[in-house]
Amino acid sequence: MKTYYLFILSIFLLLISCKQESKTIKPGEIWADNNGIHINAHGGGILFNEGSYYWFGEHKVEGKKGNKAMVGVHCYSSKNLVDWKDEGIALEVIKDNPQHDITEGCVLERPKVIYNVQTKKFVMWFHLELKNRGYDAARAGVAISDKVTGPFEFVKSFRPNAGHWPKNVKEIHKQPVGTDVLDKYCGGLGCLPAHPDSVNILGRDFENGQMARDQNLFVDDDGKAYHIYSSEENSTLHISQLTDDYLSESGNFTRVFSERYMEAPAVFKHKSKYFLIASDCTGWDPNAARLAWAPSIFGPWEELGNPCVGDEANLTFRSQSTFVTPVQGKKDAFIYLGDRWKPENAIDGRYICLPFQFNKSGIPYLKWMDEWSLDIFE
Ligand code: DGJ
Repeated sequence: MKTYYLFILSIFLLLISCKQESKTIKPGEIWADNNGIHINAHGGGILFNEGSYYWFGEHKVEGKKGNKAMVGVHCYSSKNLVDWKDEGIALEVIKDNPQHDITEGCVLERPKVIYNVQTKKFVMWFHLELKNRGYDAARAGVAISDKVTGPFEFVKSFRPNAGHWPKNVKEIHKQPVGTDVLDKYCGGLGCLPAHPDSVNILGRDFENGQMARDQNLFVDDDGKAYHIYSSEENSTLHISQLTDDYLSESGNFTRVFSERYMEAPAVFKHKSKYFLIASDCTGWDPNAARLAWAPSIFGPWEELGNPCVGDEANLTFRSQSTFVTPVQGKKDAFIYLGDRWKPENAIDGRYICLPFQFNKSGIPYLKWMDEWSLDIFE
């Protein structure tokens, strides 16, 4: 009899030990890595590669200085999207050459990494502002690595699509516009408030390449990759197909959300539909997110309004989008990753990580949760 009870007890204990408590994500709180240090990967993006997730983002230092790139791009790895291991700096800024495009003190934002199956290279794109030039350089930067965690080697920086008109160019864009007209609308920090379509920024930048600030990458099911960037003084997004090696723009691109001043774009695909989440253009301050969908990556894109519901929805829960990651092995599972910026002490920026839920019409929405686990997905 005693053996029988002991047997039952040991089965019970075994069952308890097997029932893993699901790890939770607490949006907006300190998110500790394997060393107990708050993850330092702002404006980041996530790549899934060979069974692991890799989170790349801007490494920030303390204080306002952290708004400049003093270190580089930080990488973390994870098997479950909750526990992250520090993999170190994947791309370092250059410390011994003040003339280098990515010299220490430049602005290097929103890095994203994709894997090219053909070349077997990991390719990183980022928004680059040359040192001491504010935000006027508006360039795209590219780096490459054989290994997912780096070290990435800087390849080049440039303004995209020089000498190419977008697929949906209007005749008016091709006409030269005097700098006096441009200065009227585009002096100082940008073209706020919205400039009329006749102010031809696209045409101004045709020869030397289009402005590229907030940016993201998207790889479609057919392996074609796209660069999505805020252009034309932030007034308009461009969606631009990359070359097969993912290292350059192909020249095949389109203008979308003209005059809508969208920043922080992130694209994902669900049931053959393309979704894009982005923000308005209010510097480091949060604003209401915008969702849009399209039957094809090049559009036509239709705006669906703010996908957030509940308290602080009008501020995207005090965050700005940076990436949407599909969850491997789960159905209809996409996670929103956003930044709660702290420009006064950049290193303390927080991450707002929430699951997308879908309404009956198949439209994704975001609801605040203090704490959640991946069990939310089927
Ligand atoms: C908003 C952008 O989304 C950020 O990446 C950063 O460029 C800030 N503006 C700078 O003010």
